[in-house]
Amino acid sequence: PSRPLSQDELKAQVGRAALAYVVKGEIVGVGTGSTVNKFIDALATIKDEIKGAVSSSVASTERLRALGIPVFDSNEVEELSVYIDGADEIDHRGFMVKGGGAALTREKIVAAQSRKFVCIADESKLVQVLGAFPLPVEVIPMAAQRVMRQFAAMGGIAQVREKDGLPLVTDNGQHIVDVTGLRITDPLAFESTVSQWPGVVTVGVFAYQKADVCLLGTAAGVKTME
Ligand code: A5P
Repeated sequence: PSRPLSQDELKAQVGRAALAYVVKGEIVGVGTGSTVNKFIDALATIKDEIKGAVSSSVASTERLRALGIPVFDSNEVEELSVYIDGADEIDHRGFMVKGGGAALTREKIVAAQSRKFVCIADESKLVQVLGAFPLPVEVIPMAAQRVMRQFAAMGGIAQVREKDGLPLVTDNGQHIVDVTGLRITDPLAFESTVSQWPGVVTVGVFAYQKADVCLLGTAAGVKTME
């Protein structure tokens, strides 16, 4: 077709392409977001060939169950072959910023118990340096102001994410701080440092749990980066 693919179509394309990484007869790790929703829809077409899913959010769990895919608790499963999730930003090394959908903590947990992370994203997510997308950080509410001051000392501008005029409450009962103005040139060091600040539950830099494969939706088709 001469018409360029919409962002929604690019997401659907990578969502379908990710099926190639699903191991038959096994439980698959499932992330969160609009791109993953396309993957879940595609997964439903082969649901009889898999055992089920471990999910990274209440939203994904609901979508999976509504489509008849069994959802297991992460504690019921030791190791997953593959985890499939989107990203807010990804660089050429597979380092990512995640958490735009506020699900970063459970995403990092499921990613950590998976041998392979397959990132699915449209090409607008590919960046040279992480940090243009506001960095999500899940915090214990009583630590929010102190964590925000620590980011200010690094040159960042932090604010508590709100929903309907009140601080957004995550699936884990915590708050999210979004930080702009950062240039994250060393994602591993950044993740290590911020993860140690008291009250930080999870920082949205995924460097230790980076993507092993990225399926990037482009106008010319799905590009695989490994
Ligand atoms: C959810 O918390 C995020 O990490 C998502 O993976 C990320 O926001 C990507 O979402 P979209 O596929 O909707 O862009």
